[in-house]
Amino acid sequence: MSSPLKLGFGPLSVPEKGVLVVFCDDGLKFGPATKRALSASGDLVVRAAKAERFTGKSGSVLELIVPQGLKVSRLLLIGVGKAADLQPKDIVKFGGIAMGKLPPNAGDATVFAELPGGAMSAARSADLAQGVRLRAYAFDRYKTKRKDDERRASITVSVAVSDVAATRSAFAAREAVADGVDFARDLVNEPANVLYPEEFARRAGNLKKVGVAVQVLNISAMQKLGMNALLGVGQGSARESRVVVMRWNGGRKDEAPVAFIGKGVCFDTGGISIKPAAGMEDMKGDMAGAACVTGLMQALAARKARVNAVGVIGLVENMPDGNAQRPGDIVKSMSGQTIEIINTDAEGRLVLADVLWYAAKQFKPKFMVDLATLTGAIIVALGHEHAGLFSNDDKLAGRLSKAGEDTGELVWRMPLAPEYDKLIDSKFADVKNTGGSRWAGAITAAQFLQRFVADKTPWAHLDIAGTGMESRQTDINRSWGSGWGIRLLDRLVADNYEK
Ligand code: BES
Ligand code: MN
Ligand code: ZN
Repeated sequence: MSSPLKLGFGPLSVPEKGVLVVFCDDGLKFGPATKRALSASGDLVVRAAKAERFTGKSGSVLELIVPQGLKVSRLLLIGVGKAADLQPKDIVKFGGIAMGKLPPNAGDATVFAELPGGAMSAARSADLAQGVRLRAYAFDRYKTKRKDDERRASITVSVAVSDVAATRSAFAAREAVADGVDFARDLVNEPANVLYPEEFARRAGNLKKVGVAVQVLNISAMQKLGMNALLGVGQGSARESRVVVMRWNGGRKDEAPVAFIGKGVCFDTGGISIKPAAGMEDMKGDMAGAACVTGLMQALAARKARVNAVGVIGLVENMPDGNAQRPGDIVKSMSGQTIEIINTDAEGRLVLADVLWYAAKQFKPKFMVDLATLTGAIIVALGHEHAGLFSNDDKLAGRLSKAGEDTGELVWRMPLAPEYDKLIDSKFADVKNTGGSRWAGAITAAQFLQRFVADKTPWAHLDIAGTGMESRQTDINRSWGSGWGIRLLDRLVADNYEK
């Protein structure tokens, strides 16, 4: 990762140079420290606001170059709208807007963590800083040249707060989460010639540094477990498949863990049911679910979450080859159920079938959530705004929806029902890997997964094909691989499972 950002905290005092960022509401009201800082410029700000018809609407920005009376080279005024209605996620967003407005090579910046009502709390100031962090990410390690509008030097951003020590300690957990997000973004953005299953497993091995126990299952270990659904997908690739098991034990000793499962198809050509050439390069991101789980485990460990958590990811490459799996092949999954392969491009569910079964049997978790760039159909249904949520458990689904609202990583619940389930009954085996038509494609995929949820474990499936890659460009994400889901699931854990 190359984040050109150096982030620090300091007191709410007026900077002598660089960029000053302040906030105001839709009545153009400032907090006391901001008012004091701007007093030297007289009525300049009011006149500029009038001239630009800047009204302090949420997310709007007024830019003043070399403002008279101030020593800074630039003043950025960010509107917050109605200050009374602000949620933590809004504050994170304002941090992102501030970072996004800093011109390349502008020099250092100071962001006043103050609203019209007064200085932000330590928690909100830390949210603001997290937004700055999330926006600053850029995946540019393969760029050997820089365009003029790209940042050359690193930039120092100081968040000016009322209590530096308290904000620093509130920021520690948020920094851990931002680090996890950036790690996941890197994994998703990496091309598949660099990031193949073994290399992914090696990078996941770095989580040992933050106290995560990492175990890697190689081919023979998977064969012994009977993971033939997963192995069948990888058998056409020159790269060997892997399963990585990550464990963080921050909770009580004999408390059941929470479990996160990820689809890690490092590249998806479709296999023998090969995909069209146009856009196939995007399929380097078909491991976004696994990236999210890995980044989440890192975040939970780095912030020392008081929870036992396990992450299990299935890493394969789906390639056409003389040894590749064929349509019509029948494999016996770890669960014992046989699967008829109708379409080798419906490979994610085959990988997850074994990994879900393994996770439930091995760890008897309180619940498991899987994340997968599973279907194009979920993009047709929900675009890039919501991930599809499927669950056998209303309580878990409700908690996920709530965490989505609170973080802005939105989910939308989709149905599971016997009428859909019967569409994947096979003529020759227990189950087939597609529904046989395009209709309800995201649902039949989820029905398939549900057949591999052992022992009625509370389970939720997040289809992140629309949110994990080719991502929406937002105030806090400018990356193709968004790292979507880490803030969502970190919040799910923090709000419900760390008591
Ligand atoms: N990885 C794809 C789904 C996907 C599509 C993710 C576009 C992100 C963007 C998945 O493996 C796939 O190919 N699904 C097929 C299933 C079909 C063959 C039943 C699909 O969605 O077309
Ligand atoms: Mn596929
Ligand atoms: Zn796929």
